Formats: sequence, C-alpha cells, structure tokens
Amino acid sequence: MHNIKDTTLMNTCSYINGNWHKSDSSFKVLNPATGELIVQVSDAGADEATLAVQAAKSAFKSWSAKPAHERANLLRNWFNLMMTHQEDLARILTLEQGKSLAEAKGEIAYGASFIEWFAEESKRVYGDTIPSLSANQKVIVIKQAIGVVAAITPWNFPNAMIARKAAAALAAGCTFVVRPAAQTPLSALAMAELAQRAGIPAGVFNVVVGEKASEIGQVLTTHPDIAKFTFTGSTAVGKMLIKQCASTVKKVSMELGGNAPFIVFNDADIDEAVKGAINSKYRNAGQTCVCTNRIFVQKDVLTVFTEKFTAAVAKLTVGNGLNDHTDIGPLITSDAVDGVAKLVDESISQGAVLAMGGKRHQAGSHFYQPTILTQVTHDMTIAHSEIFGPVSTIIAFEDEADVIAMANDTEYGLAAYFYSRDIGRVWRVAQALEYGMVGINEGLISNAAAPFGGVKQSGNGREGSKYGLDDYLEIKYLCMGGIE
Ligand code: SIN
Repeated sequence: MHNIKDTTLMNTCSYINGNWHKSDSSFKVLNPATGELIVQVSDAGADEATLAVQAAKSAFKSWSAKPAHERANLLRNWFNLMMTHQEDLARILTLEQGKSLAEAKGEIAYGASFIEWFAEESKRVYGDTIPSLSANQKVIVIKQAIGVVAAITPWNFPNAMIARKAAAALAAGCTFVVRPAAQTPLSALAMAELAQRAGIPAGVFNVVVGEKASEIGQVLTTHPDIAKFTFTGSTAVGKMLIKQCASTVKKVSMELGGNAPFIVFNDADIDEAVKGAINSKYRNAGQTCVCTNRIFVQKDVLTVFTEKFTAAVAKLTVGNGLNDHTDIGPLITSDAVDGVAKLVDESISQGAVLAMGGKRHQAGSHFYQPTILTQVTHDMTIAHSEIFGPVSTIIAFEDEADVIAMANDTEYGLAAYFYSRDIGRVWRVAQALEYGMVGINEGLISNAAAPFGGVKQSGNGREGSKYGLDDYLEIKYLCMGGIE
C-alpha cells in the first residue's frame, strides 16, 4: 500500500493504554498533493480523550518510579526503530502532509534526534544541596516528574513536534497524551506502533486521533489529572488554550506563531545570505513557525541580493512530494492557498511589485507558485501577517537602527536571522533582536541540542536542549531539620 514496506505502520485507530481503540465514526485523511483519500481514520472525541488521560494517570506511578537508565533504554529502542523505519515513516508523512520525501526523511531524523537526546538527558536530572542558614538544617532540592502531560500538535511537522514534546516528557518520567492535527494523524499513529514495539509500557504514550478538535481540546486542557499542557500552533489558538488551562492551573508551554525577520547587511556574504534565505523561507513550502517572513536588505546590496535570490528561487521545483526532485510540495489545504493568494494580491494593491510567481500553481489545487514581492514596506498587511506559504517579501532598509526597529515591531518573537561579517554589529544586533532564537549567518537553526522557543506572543517554555526537561519537572525543596 502506497509503497510502504511495513504496512503495520499504517494504523487507523487511536492508541490508548497500549491498545488500538476504534471509535463509532471515522474521518478522511487526504493526500494534499492529489486530493485522494489515503485512508479513513477512527474519529475519537471526549470519551476517548478521557480514557487516554485515565490510562496515562494509571501508568504514571510505575513509569516515573523507573530508574532513569531504564527509561533511557526504552527511549533509545524507540529512537532506533524510528531510524530503522525512516523511509516508511517519511513516506507516510509525505502522503498526509505533502512535504518532499527528502524533507520528510529529514523530519524523521530530526524527530528521532529528540528521542535520542532526551534518552541521554534523563540520566542527568540533578538536584542541589544549598548551604543552610542554620547549623541543624540541610537544604536539598530534588526534581520530580510533573505528572500526566497533554499535548496538541500541528500538521506542519507531524512527527517532530510530537517527538520533541513526548521525548522530554517520557524522559522526565511523565506519561503523555497527544492529539495530533486531524490532517496528519498517520505519522502519530506510526510513532505509537513503534513505541509499543520499543517496549514503552501501556498508558505511557497515548494518541487520540479525531476531527473534534475543541471537544478533545476541552478534555486535555481542563481534566484535573493533567498536570501540564503543551501546544504548538497558532497564537490565536494558543491564547484560547491557555485560558482553558487556567481553570485547573496547569503548567503550560506554548510554541506559537512567528514573523521572522531575515536581515541582510551590506557587509554580508551575499551568496551565503541567499542560501540561508532559501532554506529558511522555502522549507516545508514556507509552512513553519520559524520560516523567514520578512527579508530586510540594506539599500546598497538590494539589487545584487534580489537578483541572486530570484535566480535561486527560480530553480526550485514544485510538485508532489513523492516525485523525485520536488523541492516545494503543496500547501496543507485549499483554504491555505486562498489565504496566501489573498495576501499577495493585497500586497500588490498596496504597492508591492511582483518579481516572480504570484499565482496558484498548475500542479493542483493545493499548490502556489514560489513568489517574490519586492518594494514591500513595513506598513503593508503582509509585513504583519504570518504568511505560511512560499512567498518572500523584500523590504529595503537604510541602517541598523532602522532595521532593528522594524524587525522588532511585531507581537511575535520566535526566530530571527541576520547576515553580517562585522563582529561588533553581530553582537549588537544579536542582543537587540527581541526573539527567542537568532540565526547569525545561518538560515537553519533547529536541532535537538538547542533550546527552541519564543518570547512575546510566540509563546513560552523551551523544547530540546538541556533546558527542555525543565518544563516536565517540578522542583521540590526538602528542609531536613534536627541534624546534630
Ligand atoms: C515549527 O514550525 O514550529 C517547527 C520548526 C522547527 O522545529 O524547526
């Protein structure tokens, strides 16, 4: 089926307490490149979400009590299985999400790298002893797993966004319930199949698949047995979920929207800047929260950068992600294409100039041409909208102060990028940018060892890195008195 060698990776039911749970109704999972039905998936709702939380609650005691190296070994099994099945997992991912097979393979390795990373980190959850203020007391700090974690994850990285959260949660000793996006449940269910084969006990990792987003979301944000809620998605939805979590005072971490500036200074290596901008803008057809959203170019290098960038974009191949040589796949829905088309048309009516593309692509109803808009200005709607499509906007700037003011003039603060060879400027600009992550002469900055996360309305908490476990741990202070 669909050239998938191990067809048992293609599951269609929620995975709850180590079992595949069939619901009464089902929903369609479509291939965004062709519009074809891939498979019907069992449509879970509040009841299944509640069952999953109960399973996670029952499993928590024994999972959190396991010695860290035992949890680490099981996580490592999971990592190994994901890498063994990388090809099949990538194919499933491309089928349901659309990105090129090469990018999908990259995503599987990226997702798996978080599982490997946190398998190691689980052995390093250290506490502290603090010099006491009193001679007969000892002050000790220990860290303990927070409890049951619930997650809602997006369609743009159907594997890695689950892996990044679940790996940290399980490593810390938490149990986990995830509701993946309804467009891309198959990658999540394939991960569940491999978690089971890896020996991760029933109830530790649960996947609830269903179209009833608000019904499942209500359980995952309000159930009193859930201690922590984590979400990757839009800022608007994140704000609503934070409000829902307030009723039971859950710890929350949010990885929300972005409006990444990509700044090219006049002392930059222009060829490197072009490469970085292509990677950062057109990855996943522009559908990532850290994608470049606004390209700022200093006036004296505007012509040379624009010419080289346009030539590089012209080489990108659009098509079905399963075809050889595809660089840019479809957008996730036809609504997404409509949204991008509207933004481009509006920009042109506001004075932007179309240097390339600007139309729906002939490959199908979910495709949009790689597009470049020049003479964009900071006051245009597109400069303040998360584009989530293969559209570049080029904005000219005069000097450092000018560009930093524009770059920071947004409610978002996830990722920013800039290119410069001047060490003084590099330090000044890196400090001045109000973003959680800054790529300096780099367009691709995500990896398991680095703290991923934003400031301002791009969210809170960090995923990956040595900081990534903190969101899944409670600090407990022990005051031991009566010491002679
Ligand atoms: C995202 O779009 O939120 C994830 C991108 C990444 O992990 O690099």
